[in-house]
Amino acid sequence: MWMDERSIVALAPMADMTDGPFCRVCREVSGPDFVIFREMVSAEAICRGNAKTLKMCEFDAIERPIVLQLFGAEPKQVRQAAEILVEKFKPDGIDINMGCPVPKLTGKVNSGAALMKDHERAVKIVAELKKADLGAPISVKTRLGWGREEEILEFAPKLEAAGADLLTIHGRTKTQGYSGKANWEMIGRVKKLLKIPALANGDINSSEDIRRCLEITGADGVMIGRGALGNPWIFRCHCERSEATPSDKAGDCFVGLQSPRDDILNVILRHAQLHLERYGEGSMVTFRKHLAYYFKGVPGVKELKMKLMRVKTFDELLLSLRGGA
Ligand SMILES: Cc1cc2nc3c(=O)[nH]c(=O)nc-3n(C[C@H](O)[C@H](O)[C@H](O)COP(=O)(O)O)c2cc1C
Repeated sequence: MWMDERSIVALAPMADMTDGPFCRVCREVSGPDFVIFREMVSAEAICRGNAKTLKMCEFDAIERPIVLQLFGAEPKQVRQAAEILVEKFKPDGIDINMGCPVPKLTGKVNSGAALMKDHERAVKIVAELKKADLGAPISVKTRLGWGREEEILEFAPKLEAAGADLLTIHGRTKTQGYSGKANWEMIGRVKKLLKIPALANGDINSSEDIRRCLEITGADGVMIGRGALGNPWIFRCHCERSEATPSDKAGDCFVGLQSPRDDILNVILRHAQLHLERYGEGSMVTFRKHLAYYFKGVPGVKELKMKLMRVKTFDELLLSLRGGA
């Protein structure tokens, strides 16, 4: 069971990014020792049987352990959606989004980060899920608070008391969005109040960050978000058995070379192929966001990056990459 690991490492759910193809590539290149949290999906859309949303939840067995994340505001609806997901896909956990700051969630439907302002509703959602007896752990991903970091000290114990099996805490407030530094010390203060496992999230981008974050927070594990984009190798870095190092990033392979190292290139092409299989002809346009991350911060590839931002087909991608910088 992934939750019993001595030190859990997780891929963070990221809308439009941690989809099937990306998660699969992470697993293929980084091995089995981390848990995948897929991008959030709407509980309402799942209950409506929306085909596109259900398709977003499909996964390959190789991706396990895998947790599916729901956002929603109505306890009974979230429960029903979780029941549907468990029955259809048998994920290794169900996570509830209580941290997303986008107005689409926090606005009229009062889900995502808005639940940090409505403890009663948040608690009801967790309690309702526990009643369902899903046979899969229930976790919540949240932030330090809406406006103040101390809010989590009151919120997290309530989620635990309602029956949450694990909490992930992003060390920022909703007001901060994604800027400013994640406050690991505050995550450490919350962790001390909890009996259930807690994962620390925010600004963890290397094995050194993992080590420092665990030391500061005393957390049971870490969750890595943006540090994994364009860097599916990152999960190897915590695994002592692996000989690979986190410096196996696309960026590092360019130093002094005309074109990317073959193994790195093959991973990008594998990701592109899976993306194409999943989203069909013409989907290289939406693959460009991943390409931008693969080459983010790589020196001397400005022209290549410009070419990549124009690719429309797999052949064009191949040609641009083989042509090198
Ligand atoms: C593009 C993007 C999409 C995100 N989508 C989700 C999401 O679907 N569910 C969620 O709980 N958090 C989402 N987040 C927040 C991340 O999971 C994570 O908490 C945040 O990026 C901080 O971690 P990091 O500093 O490691 O990136 C998203 C973040 C980004 C950048």
